[in-house]
Amino acid sequence: MKVGVIGAGTMGSGIAQTFAQTDGYEVVLCDISERLAEGGKAKIAKGLNKKVAKGKMAQEAADAILGKITTGLMDKCADCDLIVEAAYEDLGVKHEMFKELDVICKPETIFASNTSSLSITEIGAGVNRPVIGMHFFNPAPVMKLIEVIAGLNTPDETVEKIKEISVSIGKTPVQVKEAAGFVVNRILIPMINEAVGIYADGVADVEGIDTAMKLGANHPMGPLALGDLVGLDICLAIMNVLYTETGDSKYRPHPLLRKMVRGGKLGQKTGEGFYKYN
Ligand code: CAA
Repeated sequence: MKVGVIGAGTMGSGIAQTFAQTDGYEVVLCDISERLAEGGKAKIAKGLNKKVAKGKMAQEAADAILGKITTGLMDKCADCDLIVEAAYEDLGVKHEMFKELDVICKPETIFASNTSSLSITEIGAGVNRPVIGMHFFNPAPVMKLIEVIAGLNTPDETVEKIKEISVSIGKTPVQVKEAAGFVVNRILIPMINEAVGIYADGVADVEGIDTAMKLGANHPMGPLALGDLVGLDICLAIMNVLYTETGDSKYRPHPLLRKMVRGGKLGQKTGEGFYKYN
């Protein structure tokens, strides 16, 4: 099966790696420029090289995975069987991309979006085929869950096909109804927002908050480190969707979260968030 992954950022490159390391899949990793698409592949190569250096993967295996990933613009997706869109989390952007893909791709290509909180029904509006949510978690090659979200017009057979594909790449699909933040982000992102508030209130420092949640709740990483991993801009975008969709003040993004995003401190991807990265 040939998979077109749209968007070569953190999630797109992780999703591309996940498919490419499974037998029976090849990937076209696309972005708005060749340079960005190649940058995504370079990120994958860097991660695989680390595994080779640690002795956890043979060089041939790493080369084989990279050999299954080609890069380019969306017009390379004409013969793809599945599209997984992982572009910028903006309804207008996703909408336009799917409309364009509708013209480029063959009629039977399945359209899936990795949106983390937007309405699948709205993303699919005006597209001449159903769109489904196929929501991966960061880091995509490691995290086992895929939330499968049917929009109002997504047929059952598409839902079943995406569940089947999810299992084939080693993931566990959980079907959820269309709702802001679905399941995981509705729980996880307000927790990160709360941790930002706790820090802003001076209750504990960054390390203290993260250590407390790691040791007190057995989380693999603390909420502020997780915010940096997910991207504080993504956290803010999800809080904004939860807030505007529900109108519930409990989802108000914390002013410090807004301030950090305005200041370009987005976490790992910009080299600084609550922690510094080199
Ligand atoms: N890409 C690929 N593989 C990665 C990776 C990455 N970015 N980061 C870590 N890994 C791999 C490592 O290579 C390693 O693999 P091996 O065991 O084969 O060597 C394995 O994961 C474990 O990594 P580490 O030993 O370096 O570190 P760790 O044991 O501390 O685990 C972690 C790191 C997997 C990130 C772990 O801390 C964790 O599970 N954190 C929570 C992540 C989480 O909650 N994600 C969900 C975010 S919400 C989201 O994504 C949804 C959304 O829409 C915003």
